[in-house]
Amino acid sequence: MSDAQVLLVYDTRFGHTFQVVQALERGLGRVAGVRPAHCFYADVTPDLLDRAHMVMIGGPTEGLSASSHIKRMFRHIGGFDLRGKYGFAFDTHPSGPLGGSAARYIEKELAAMGLRLLEPRRSAIIVGRPRDAAGTDRLALESGAEERFEALGEALGHELVAALAEHPPVRSGEPTAASA
Ligand SMILES: Cc1cc2nc3c(=O)[nH]c(=O)nc-3n(C[C@H](O)[C@H](O)[C@H](O)COP(=O)(O)O)c2cc1C
Repeated sequence: MSDAQVLLVYDTRFGHTFQVVQALERGLGRVAGVRPAHCFYADVTPDLLDRAHMVMIGGPTEGLSASSHIKRMFRHIGGFDLRGKYGFAFDTHPSGPLGGSAARYIEKELAAMGLRLLEPRRSAIIVGRPRDAAGTDRLALESGAEERFEALGEALGHELVAALAEHPPVRSGEPTAASA
């Protein structure tokens, strides 16, 4: 079989979710036969989705859920047939009492569109760092998060290769009647 294509779609306001994307991509890239690529939510096209065997979608938790950008994107891609592809949801949110989860929303949408989830959703936690010399609050992914997502990317890559060997891909991605 040709390489398994993984498309990582993301939203980010301050760059933390993109760091998670890059960590997942590094891990996926270690697996022979897996070819990862990333795409900002606003740049997703039917063609990119169609070519992907697995679609990973992540974003910041905002308003206790996914960002309005991610929600709008789902309304856009909801008209495409992604059944039979593999999926994975992730998010970032700070430690502390705010709550909610973008990944919960994303995972539900992926499952509703018929993607098969290889792993349950995961979150990367953002923590505060001491103010810098200019007195600016600095936030960062918690220590070890990038390594964990790299390892997860690698594990997902292996799971995808095994899943595709067992269930060869079905052609999909054509617009359905719903999008007409
Ligand atoms: C407008 C806005 C709303 C937010 N709402 C929540 C929330 O409801 N729950 C939460 O845990 N974090 C919330 N956050 C914190 C974000 O989750 C955090 O800034 C984000 O994970 C950073 O990721 P990014 O750098 O990829 O944007 C909010 C942040 C912003 C800017």
